[in-house]
Amino acid sequence: MEQLLRQIDDHKKEISSFNATDEKQVEDFRIKYLGSKGIVKAIMGEMKNVATENKKEAGQLLNEFKVFVEGKYNELKESAVGSQESSASTIDLSLPGDNLPIGSRHPVVLMRNRIVSIFQRLGFAVAEGPEIEDDWHNFGALNLPEHHPARDMQDTFYVQQNPDWVLRTHTSNVQIREMEKGKLPIRMVMPGRVYRNETVSARSHCFFHQVEGLYIDENVSFADLKQTLYFFVKEMYGKDVKVRFRPSYFPFTEPSAEMDVSCFICGGSGCNICKKTGWVEILGCGMVHPNVLTNCNIDPAKYTGFAFGMGIERPAMLKYEINDIRLFSENDVRFLKQFTSAI
Ligand code: PHE
Repeated sequence: MEQLLRQIDDHKKEISSFNATDEKQVEDFRIKYLGSKGIVKAIMGEMKNVATENKKEAGQLLNEFKVFVEGKYNELKESAVGSQESSASTIDLSLPGDNLPIGSRHPVVLMRNRIVSIFQRLGFAVAEGPEIEDDWHNFGALNLPEHHPARDMQDTFYVQQNPDWVLRTHTSNVQIREMEKGKLPIRMVMPGRVYRNETVSARSHCFFHQVEGLYIDENVSFADLKQTLYFFVKEMYGKDVKVRFRPSYFPFTEPSAEMDVSCFICGGSGCNICKKTGWVEILGCGMVHPNVLTNCNIDPAKYTGFAFGMGIERPAMLKYEINDIRLFSENDVRFLKQFTSAI
């Protein structure tokens, strides 16, 4: 029995310090210890020489030894495979990387960011609102009661499940939602997508994008409106561009105006873009109608404000010389990948 113990101890020491660097050495280990003529088998054979009263203890020791050897064998196997794998997949970090295609921003997004960032510099915050809107926020609160003929200015998509819902026809709904919050003053721009039931052609689409602007405070005047928009035009189209306001009508502003800029393609001398007039219309604007303020619980005796709304597609088409509005929504990668500007 003692001899057996010593033998096992000696083997354990030898096994513990055994190291294999390749699979061949691991296999040698297996044959030496676990093979059919291996050491584990041989020691098992010694059992017959052990005295009967020690057999139980010896059996346990031998079993432990076998488990120990097998554990070591598995360990060697794993480390040998691992070291071979890592040497096979040595990565050359100095190789040049694969070039991934760089995406580009959508031209509508580029133009929206340009417009919004100019107003942000003037201290305007950015707000957004829902595209599916109720009648009140899209029309009613904007001084367009039911049956008002001005509703025909914007052909509307109605939502079948609920006759009170429309796809918003303009971003002016966000004006109402911001005013309703009751936090004054308001100085915000509100970009977003709008929908109108129009025949799709190269020049018009059933959905497009607008940026709305709203400034409400005490003593806001038409002069503020003009100066703000002058600044915008100079930043957007350059110092030499001329501006003109034409009287117009929107139910939610009074007085109302449309703003034209001198054609930045021909410089005002007349071309196809400005239809030979020398002017390009870019936005609608006006002083917020007192009824609209009242509808939003703002006292029109104390507060005044101005609002404006402009399309995004048209300036984008002019800037990037795009001649068909449908290209914006067709997702043709050949078209989209041409826009690489950083903003
Ligand atoms: N909502 C108007 C339109 O879509 C634009 C506008 C906004 C006009 C704000 C005046 C004030 O045509």
